[in-house]
Amino acid sequence: MSPSDQPLHFQTRSVHIGVDKDPSYKSATTPIYPTSTFRWDDCQTNAGYDYTRSGNPTRAALEENIASLEGGVSCRATCTGMSAITTTMHLFEPGDHIIAGHDIYGGTYRLFADVFTKMGLKFSFVNMGDPANIRAAATPETKCIWIETPSNPLLNIVDIKAVTDIAKDLGVITIADNTFLSPALQRPFEHGVDIVIHSTTKYLNGHSDVVGGCVVSKTEEHGEKIAYIVNALGLGNSPFDAWLVLRGVKTLAPRMKAHQESAMALARFLADHPKVEKVYYPGLESHPGHELAKRQQDGFGAMMSFDVAGDGEYAQKVLSNTKLFQLAESLGGVESLVEYPELMSHASMTAAARKEAGISEKTIRVSVGIEHPDDLIADMKSALES
Ligand SMILES: Cc1ncc(COP(=O)(O)O)c(C=O)c1O
Repeated sequence: MSPSDQPLHFQTRSVHIGVDKDPSYKSATTPIYPTSTFRWDDCQTNAGYDYTRSGNPTRAALEENIASLEGGVSCRATCTGMSAITTTMHLFEPGDHIIAGHDIYGGTYRLFADVFTKMGLKFSFVNMGDPANIRAAATPETKCIWIETPSNPLLNIVDIKAVTDIAKDLGVITIADNTFLSPALQRPFEHGVDIVIHSTTKYLNGHSDVVGGCVVSKTEEHGEKIAYIVNALGLGNSPFDAWLVLRGVKTLAPRMKAHQESAMALARFLADHPKVEKVYYPGLESHPGHELAKRQQDGFGAMMSFDVAGDGEYAQKVLSNTKLFQLAESLGGVESLVEYPELMSHASMTAAARKEAGISEKTIRVSVGIEHPDDLIADMKSALES
């Protein structure tokens, strides 16, 4: 596809890879194939697809596209981010031990600490800010290290290379949740990770109009296992949802650029505001992970959290007073959102686990959209001061 000897750039691949799927009419965009089943020519010949749970051309277009953006060999698009995580947990067997960060997404924590613990997997949740904690938690049963960076909601940065080095020493695999940055800003395979997952609900789709997920593999061996599990469990993304994500992914690079510009302006405003105690944004020089983020990321992203200078009641008042920022969970859409981890995104963690992770009643999480930064700052100023 490349017009020269040079490999195609990221934003060109996001527009073109996998998209050409219409031999009949040569449509410029991928058609939606809303069919559960496909006709066979005879009992031994079909056109590459037999049943949509196992594979579908629209979903395949998205899968080829994301695999290319992450730099993997294959991808499976799933119906939610949680189903992508569920898929990867089926690589393991009862008794296997997995080490994860203590400040991961609340839904992932619940899936690990409750659902998969009941099914016999064992988990340790550690502060991954210091990779030595990973070595200390490792046991002979350890099979995987789960990485989420930046972490949710406090934007702690995990040194991916340091973790994958430890994993190689231990002979275990690493799986990274790359939802918060997207491959436009961070590609975990470049730092030694084995499997990458996303909630495509977020930046990859980018328009808050679909839920989806994906699992990207670096090796054929993992790719085959993942494809088998997604089919066996029936977790594939619907063709229509895959089509929406494919439409969104084409504008990923310019969207991330706009998201980040507004985020940096808002973070600087919040850092200077007397009603704000602390800002968690890796783009600020004061953030403890700033230098590491500069090294392993291509940008600082558009997620941030802050602690208000006041109590939980004041934090909730601020959240009710914004006009442009919508009070809603989720993230990564073009519209800016605010939410309250204590009662919303991280309510599925126990109070003790939230405390351990540093989430308090003062913490507000922000997903900065692509609106003009001046409008966002004016809205936040009025919410903080009213
Ligand atoms: C970092 C992260 N991973 C995974 C998920 C789960 O994704 P989904 O809601 O699409 O199932 C979320 C959802 O917010 C998330 O923030």
